[in-house]
Amino acid sequence: MNEIEQNIVLLREQLHRWNREYYQLDQPSVTDSEYDQALNALRQLEAQHPELASSDSPTQRVGAAPISAFISVEHRLPMLSLDNAFSSEDLIDFDRRVNERLAGAVQAIRYCCEPKLDGIAVSITWEHGKLVRALTRGDGRSGEDITQNVRTLESVPLVLSGSGFPKILEVRGEVYMPREGFERLNARARARGEKPFVNPRNAAAGSLRQLDSRITARRPLAFTVYSLGYTEGENALPPNHSEVMTTLAGWGLPVSSLAEVVTGVQGCERYFDQLAEQRDSLPFDIDGIVFKVDSLDYQERLGFVSRAPRWAIARKFPAQEETTTLTTVEFQVGRTGAITPVARLEPVFVGGVTVSNATLHNADEIARLGVMAGDTVIVRRAGDVIPQVVAVVVDRRPPNATPITFPAVCPICGSEVERDDGEAVIRCVGGLVCSAQRSAALRHFVSRKAMDIDGLGEKLIEQLVSNETVMSVADIYRLDIPTLRSLERMGDKSAAKLVSAIAASKRTTLARFIYALGIREVGEATARQLAAYFETLEALMTANEQALEEVDDVGPIVARHIRRFFDEPANRQTIAQLLQQGVHWPVSDTTSEVSLLGGQTWVVTGKLETMSRDDAEAALRALGAKVASSVSSKTTCVLAGPGAGSKLKKAQALGVSIIDEQTLLEKLQQWQEP
Ligand code: IVH
Repeated sequence: MNEIEQNIVLLREQLHRWNREYYQLDQPSVTDSEYDQALNALRQLEAQHPELASSDSPTQRVGAAPISAFISVEHRLPMLSLDNAFSSEDLIDFDRRVNERLAGAVQAIRYCCEPKLDGIAVSITWEHGKLVRALTRGDGRSGEDITQNVRTLESVPLVLSGSGFPKILEVRGEVYMPREGFERLNARARARGEKPFVNPRNAAAGSLRQLDSRITARRPLAFTVYSLGYTEGENALPPNHSEVMTTLAGWGLPVSSLAEVVTGVQGCERYFDQLAEQRDSLPFDIDGIVFKVDSLDYQERLGFVSRAPRWAIARKFPAQEETTTLTTVEFQVGRTGAITPVARLEPVFVGGVTVSNATLHNADEIARLGVMAGDTVIVRRAGDVIPQVVAVVVDRRPPNATPITFPAVCPICGSEVERDDGEAVIRCVGGLVCSAQRSAALRHFVSRKAMDIDGLGEKLIEQLVSNETVMSVADIYRLDIPTLRSLERMGDKSAAKLVSAIAASKRTTLARFIYALGIREVGEATARQLAAYFETLEALMTANEQALEEVDDVGPIVARHIRRFFDEPANRQTIAQLLQQGVHWPVSDTTSEVSLLGGQTWVVTGKLETMSRDDAEAALRALGAKVASSVSSKTTCVLAGPGAGSKLKKAQALGVSIIDEQTLLEKLQQWQEP
């Protein structure tokens, strides 16, 4: 290698590294101008020595000079769309039609099942192995030329690898933005005071439609092929769609690793259920499953109807975004005084449930969305995450829409509100004076994972707080049957039952007790860590911030919250009263039983029949096991119930032990015998 060649190689390596730091790690180590200088140096060297040019050089992916408009280009073959199925009946109908049209040619059709990626359809063409053109779907007949933009995507090969590819190879696929990249892009936009994107799909669309491809180059876009388009001058291609995809992968094209060939409609159903369970944990958004007749011969025999093939169908998942009307905004005061704006909505079916409230987070979020009462809004509910208002449809704003003003005093107790430095949250400073904070603290205290007092529901708490029977959590242990009897809708039996539930809750664990106190930022897991580390309440209450930070998961902020909580005389008094009233736990409850499953990591997945997942996890923890949410090579054992999906699969792949509920129950009995 001569000096120039060496220089070029070094510059390329350096630029690749900087790109990775910028795009993937979000930790650029150089300024933009240093980057540009290196890139220009490389460009110059490559121009002077064309024989050293390389298709994978960073100069080929950084985008070209901006263009003034996109040019419309006709597709060689129309780009079709898909018919939708919304239920398993729709899918059965589809399979029946396929079988009828093929007139009994086969017993059970083999289908290729693939995730339906939620992005933008593109067509990409290579001629003699070189990428020459990329088009959007457009109206299906012609699309826009976005070649410069698509060239910047790392996952699109500029040159095909291997051999035997056709002279002209056109493929279709989806350009999308993986969730992680989307979150990073939006975090950066928010930090700069720019408007974030509503969802990964919009972000991908916006990024692809840039006239300046240098902007596209800086967006975390990915590409996956889902079908062959036009080809010319090829060697024979294999007879099934799934095999064609494998062939394309051999030429360096990215195909879905989740695709699977199944037999018959039952196979399709099974695949659908499995992917539906995995949906929220995939690194990208999918909005359904596409089922394709795998045989290309059958595909040809089945043909098309209007703009969709008869050999494929998309079974959609419940939409995770819908539009509805925001009627008003109410302000709720939480346990720590945080005032949260909650949007009241016209009920709408989204993400599989009917939603009539959505969080607006805080005052900044209201300002950022520019939302008004009466607006049409887009509501998103994905997985178990609480529903969010993600955008306003400004075009549909009615003339009588009214601005939303954040309350200047606490809407419940009228106390002042304050905003901590550097925090978006506005808080009521009223503390226990504020009945909303008191109610929220009580609800938390009695909840299942805290003191677990059955029968002390929201309505009852409201009554006890408003008639000032219960001023602090310690007052709960003073409740007697006559007091409870005097409340609305409370009979003798329920009163007696509640009193005994309250008494039973006195025997608890240190971890539960710490969690029940409702210290800011101290959730269930942190409470457990604190209990395990300090072993006694006394030790925890007297620990300084430095000592607190020794505990896993506890950083300076959490340490400060804990210290402040125990420094507050009212809190110390409440704790003293609770102990006086007989709240207790086994001494060093976390170490007495740990030995049995100590050092083991368990994962619980699927439905359990005789106990809840929480109970199973608690039982395992009580025996000293760590319970994790994902399977890895460090997992000791997976407890799997019916409907278990990806976690079970991964455990099987890794050779991790798997047991069912029945076996666990038997083991628990054995283990718990003295
Ligand atoms: S096949 C003729 N497969 O869904 C076959 N489409 O609603 C046409 N899509 O425009 C498409 N993932 O943008 C196919 N695995 C997949 C897909 C997929 C996403 C998109 C595609 C298409 C739209 C139709």
